Amino acid sequence: MAMISRRELLLGGAAVAAAPLIGGLAARQAHAADTLLDLSRLSHEILPGTLTRDMMSFVSTGAPPVLRMRRGETFNVDVDNGLGEAVTVHWHGLRIANAMDGVPYLTQNPIEAKERFRYSFTPPDAGTFWYHPHCNTLEQIARGLTGVLIVEDDEDPGFDADIPLNIRDFRLNGEGAFIDFYKPRNAARGGTLGTVSTVNWQVTPRHDVPAGGLVRLRLAVTDLTRVATYRVSGNEDAGARVRLLALDSNPLPVPQDYNEALLAPGQRADFALRVPDREGEEVALLRDTPTGPVAIATFRAVGASANRTLAELKPFSPNPFAEPDLANAETVEFLFGWTPDGDAPQRSICGSLGYTFWSINRIAWKGDVPGPLDPLATLKQGKTYVLRFRNETQNDHPIHLHGHTFRLLRSDKRKVPPLWTDTALLQAQETMEVVLVADNPGDWAFHCHVIEHQKTGLAGFLRVEA
Ligand code: C2O
Ligand code: CU
Ligand code: CU
Repeated sequence: MAMISRRELLLGGAAVAAAPLIGGLAARQAHAADTLLDLSRLSHEILPGTLTRDMMSFVSTGAPPVLRMRRGETFNVDVDNGLGEAVTVHWHGLRIANAMDGVPYLTQNPIEAKERFRYSFTPPDAGTFWYHPHCNTLEQIARGLTGVLIVEDDEDPGFDADIPLNIRDFRLNGEGAFIDFYKPRNAARGGTLGTVSTVNWQVTPRHDVPAGGLVRLRLAVTDLTRVATYRVSGNEDAGARVRLLALDSNPLPVPQDYNEALLAPGQRADFALRVPDREGEEVALLRDTPTGPVAIATFRAVGASANRTLAELKPFSPNPFAEPDLANAETVEFLFGWTPDGDAPQRSICGSLGYTFWSINRIAWKGDVPGPLDPLATLKQGKTYVLRFRNETQNDHPIHLHGHTFRLLRSDKRKVPPLWTDTALLQAQETMEVVLVADNPGDWAFHCHVIEHQKTGLAGFLRVEA
């Protein structure tokens, strides 16, 4: 697939720097940034001139808020469940304590309707993350329940503006009403695509940005299904410049002058945009489609040129991952594939699509039901593991592990850069190896982030034992 090439090429020759431990955190005053999320159903205008009813948001007032917190500081968030059904909230990509990970029955009981639950955690890494429900996941995400989560860098890199972009589709008809959230025949294949593309719940929003300024664009693909290449496209002659700074929260060892990234559900990309000098000049965020690129958001230069240059940006500090001990690593195999015949999902308070199509190591996730549950693998805390992901299917699977970040090692199909991530896009028929230090004890969900696949069997969990 040609679309993959950019991500493959990334950092091909770059050496991997050992991540230094982040110092000075104790010096900063820890202050509790208490936030209330009053999860609600609401009506909202997505398609101009229409009202979409029965959407779900993390607040009662509109689209989900961007949550901002600081690396190394405790963040307390109260979830007030006004959805009229059970929910849990998961903080995608955050390496936090297992009890705060938001997975029903594995780490907590579902938060029932009208109940309140306090999440309290300390993010160890900076970057662009997101948050979403993990119980009736397909329907709740389909109705809107996804938000961007930002962990601020220790040091201000020097941007003039910072724009989080929550990229996702909705399945709406022409009147703005929800249509079926998925089709079973698609769930058994690549998944069901949305009909209306949005950024921050808006169709092709336009942002005013300072002319000649430096803007951080934080792309978070929170879609249920869609895998696509995104491109930040501006007129270089007018002064536009674009640089890829980070993928999946983690700074590239060397920022690249790429203006595009292939992103699957769950994945993120941070671009630096140097805005054109002349007022009114526009830069577009494009998404590739089979019929050509489509603008999903635009950025318009306003004011007199600030005359900034990309070279003025301070590099991000790397996130503090334990360095894998490859020489003593143990390999654990995972086969992502079809499910054995006759496997039926169990009824659950967290909903079921009623089908089982997928499995990991021929075991289909039964649904989000009370335990005891068996892990797919048990890892020893502190030990290095190579996880071998083998995809026997014709579909792509963004494979996501909770509570850990792993490094891409190798693939039988392409050259993979040594990127750190929590969500790796495993292509059709590909075998890929990743490595991690199992340093966060607990039961960690492990699943495909095409939610129809997750909800029809392609899920499980890994246990990290002290
Ligand atoms: Cu964003 Cu279990 O996932
Ligand atoms: Cu996650
Ligand atoms: Cu999948």
